[in-house]
Amino acid sequence: MSKLSLDRILQSQGFGSRKYCRALIEDGDVAINGEVEDNYKAVVETDGLVLTVFDEDWPYRERLYIALNKPVGYECSRKPSHHPAVLTLLPEQFTWREVQPVGRLDHDTTGLLLMSDDGAFIHAQSSPKRHVPKVYQATTAEPVTRPLVDQLLAGVQLHDEPAPLAAVTCVQRGEHQLEIVLEQGKYHQVKRMLAAAGNHCTALHRSQIGGLTLDSLGIREGEWCYLGDAQLALLACQ
Ligand code: URA
Repeated sequence: MSKLSLDRILQSQGFGSRKYCRALIEDGDVAINGEVEDNYKAVVETDGLVLTVFDEDWPYRERLYIALNKPVGYECSRKPSHHPAVLTLLPEQFTWREVQPVGRLDHDTTGLLLMSDDGAFIHAQSSPKRHVPKVYQATTAEPVTRPLVDQLLAGVQLHDEPAPLAAVTCVQRGEHQLEIVLEQGKYHQVKRMLAAAGNHCTALHRSQIGGLTLDSLGIREGEWCYLGDAQLALLACQ
């Protein structure tokens, strides 16, 4: 249980500066659990709170844990160079909250991307010590062969890595389709591993992190959803 003044609550949820939030409240643009509240000093219980701002409902979240179904053509960087940022697919107030991607997907990779404003969570999820399996579907330029699969399972040496990197599992899913599970999150890892094994990745999709599958979330490309405790628990090491 936690009680805060309404202007602080609004600011914490990313709706703008304290001054701007006070003006929103005084203008009657904010409702608490369905009732307009125009006193910014009103003390409000945050547990189970639903804010309505400009007629849109926003559940109060102390921290944001989000899954995005990333489409092609978006960059995970905060300052993207060639494509729009994935942040532009989220409500504007999440940017104010400094939500960041947890790890990165390339601009041309699709699928499950976690995002959060919880630094400790981002750090823990991105730690190399954490062996959370990530499942990718790769499309290859050259047909998939048994030796390719065996090589990816045995480990391939990448230029800037001290030791070979191996897939946890690697299964052929079609003539040009491979499902590959990795525990590390190295830069362009799937593409570089395929290149090092003599093939080339032409499309890449991430369908699962730990026990959390994109399918289970029911979000279409470009859509996002909040993650609850049960879904976050699935991200622990399996
Ligand atoms: N491996 C890659 O090569 N690219 C990604 O986006 C993710 C994993």
